[in-house]
Amino acid sequence: MILSLDHIAIAVPDLERGIARWGKDFGITLAGTEDVEPAQTSTAFFPIEGTRIELIHPLDGKGPVVKYLEKRGGGLHHLCFSVDDIRAEMARLTGLGYRFLSEEPGIGAHQSLVAFIHPKSTDGVLIELVEHTQDGH
Ligand code: CO
Repeated sequence: MILSLDHIAIAVPDLERGIARWGKDFGITLAGTEDVEPAQTSTAFFPIEGTRIELIHPLDGKGPVVKYLEKRGGGLHHLCFSVDDIRAEMARLTGLGYRFLSEEPGIGAHQSLVAFIHPKSTDGVLIELVEHTQDGH
């Protein structure tokens, strides 16, 4: 079951500049940064009203965000919804004909479990599902 809009991810070509924009210019407090090795991204989180803006940037110049930035220079990358049981939700949606980028959930920020629905299944929008683990992040 989908519980909430967990975050909106924006790919940025310059993470420091992105952090300055969202933090200083827009006045949203930076909650933290994290390098997510499995996703090959450097991230910065800005919580706002029950959700978060998440800036994503290639970690060490590698990973899937590189291509995105080369093509578009930056932009809205994905929406993420938190779910209570990611494996159950993947099975349910697969049964309805949705394709996922991977068959099994991977590890996301804060050791959460994450999976992406293929944008071809969702009118071109990349959608991430996340199941937060028990340590409460
Ligand atoms: Co995400």
